[in-house]
Amino acid sequence: MEFIELVKKRYSVRAYEARSVEREKLDYVLECARLAPSAVNRQPWRFVVAESAEARERLCACYHNEWLRQAPVIVAVCVDRGAAWTRLNDGKNHADVDGSIATEHICLAAAEVGLGTCWVCNFDYEATIAALRLPEGVYPVALVPMGYAADSASERHTSRKPTESVVEFI
Ligand SMILES: Cc1cc2nc3c(=O)[nH]c(=O)nc-3n(C[C@H](O)[C@H](O)[C@H](O)COP(=O)(O)O)c2cc1C
Repeated sequence: MEFIELVKKRYSVRAYEARSVEREKLDYVLECARLAPSAVNRQPWRFVVAESAEARERLCACYHNEWLRQAPVIVAVCVDRGAAWTRLNDGKNHADVDGSIATEHICLAAAEVGLGTCWVCNFDYEATIAALRLPEGVYPVALVPMGYAADSASERHTSRKPTESVVEFI
């Protein structure tokens, strides 16, 4: 599959079939996350995989939309602020950037093997930290539900700004 096809294939899935995700597929997706690039190769991430009903429920309680409960797996992409690179000249910590790259690797790899995902960031931040029992300095970047899609892409998926309004050659 050409990369552009994969990019188009991935969309935000907000309804999932009840069937579970095969372990090999989950391992493949997590390996693609592990191999993601990060600033100064710090790899400040921790991928917390919620598979049990109890763990998923703890995370679902941190998000206001019921559809998350359908996902058979939720991967919480977490980062350690202290482990990530901080740019000296302005103090910008890159944990969010690193976590975001890994998150999109997860979403694209999942799409490649026929699994649906959705970036979820609109969670209750403090409640999610508590639900994941994260240590000081470690925080969630995204929750990524994963499973077999039971919906199709929304209009938003094909709605992108035109090239000329987002690309500039200087
Ligand atoms: C950083 C980020 C946060 C997002 N948070 C949520 C969210 O909390 N809930 C949700 O349903 N979708 C969320 N989305 C999905 C976006 O709404 C979606 O990617 C966008 O509308 C484009 O649609 P597509 O992913 O189907 O192409 C998020 C996406 C990104 C990149």
